[in-house]
Amino acid sequence: MTEYRLSGAELEAAFQTRVDDERRIEPKDWMPDAYRKNLVRQISQHAHSEIIGMQPEGNWITRAPTLKRKMILLAKVQDEGGHGLYLYSAAETLGASREDMIEALHQGRAKYASIFNYPTLTWADIGMIGWLVDGAAIVNQISLQRTSYGPYSRAMIRICKEESFHQRQGFEILMALAAGSEAQKAMAQDALNRWWWPTLMMFGPHDSESAHSAQSMQWKIKRKSNDELRQDFVDQTVPQADFLGLKIPDPELRWNEDRGHYDFGEIDWDEFWTVVSGNGLCNRERLARHRKAHQDGKWVREAMRAYEEKRRARAA
Ligand code: 3HC
Repeated sequence: MTEYRLSGAELEAAFQTRVDDERRIEPKDWMPDAYRKNLVRQISQHAHSEIIGMQPEGNWITRAPTLKRKMILLAKVQDEGGHGLYLYSAAETLGASREDMIEALHQGRAKYASIFNYPTLTWADIGMIGWLVDGAAIVNQISLQRTSYGPYSRAMIRICKEESFHQRQGFEILMALAAGSEAQKAMAQDALNRWWWPTLMMFGPHDSESAHSAQSMQWKIKRKSNDELRQDFVDQTVPQADFLGLKIPDPELRWNEDRGHYDFGEIDWDEFWTVVSGNGLCNRERLARHRKAHQDGKWVREAMRAYEEKRRARAA
């Protein structure tokens, strides 16, 4: 029987129909090269963000105010490492190699979330990262649970469960500070002043400036746009700040009854692109630390590889 081979256009059309019919794309399915490339870019950078994000919080494990806080922070930082591994594995199902992804990060060809290039100056910052940064990550990642690529979607479902614990523990740290001494309240307010705007930057440029959003939305890699997700985050977070008695550092923030959303001020996009392009407060420190950890762990990877080769040789 002659094999009828679909043309490129027919393959593309069949792929888009599958996406439009809400059927997940799996590793063995045909997909446009550009879809694969876009996913490797986004998933690997998501993974890099999780791993680099361990650094600012890890700085406070030895300085946590109580044993209980130390244990919670330890668990959270370990979770982030696990999230990174899930996501690297999801990217590997697309044919990307771990080594290439790490190399791209070290050479500055791959990005990670700008938020992790800010310093953690006080214990309140650890509360802010949990409440704001993980809160923003949850808004984004809940949407990504419905992404069209199967392994990414399933990784998000697992990760979102753990992110909820991260957000709650951060909020609980801030509840303790907000109910504490004047100095503790001032520490929490100072941290909010420093972390609010960089957190809004996590959702990326405005939709009109976004290089990937239109295509990512058509392929249902993204289910909501950068600005939609940012608006969702602001709408859910402002009442929480009110509950804590903290003031969000945005004079233009106000409820807009007609829109049914909060209006808020403009992000400093010069700061955003300065940090994204590698010139933020901690970019060099974060990458240097990652390179050193990767180098220090080389012998472990080599030992695991040697063991695996020996095991396979014995099994052959
Ligand atoms: N930091 C660094 N780079 C950013 C950025 C940010 N906050 N926002 C956008 N960018 C980059 C994009 O990667 C893209 O650059 P590239 O072409 O070199 O990849 C460029 O700016 C243009 O942005 P786009 O909006 O066109 O890019 P995307 O369509 O990819 O949207 C995104 C950006 C919303 C971050 C999207 O990539 C995404 O949803 N990624 C998955 C979620 C993620 O990575 N979150 C990062 C935080 S992880 C985290 O917080 C873990 C928590 O447990 C602590």
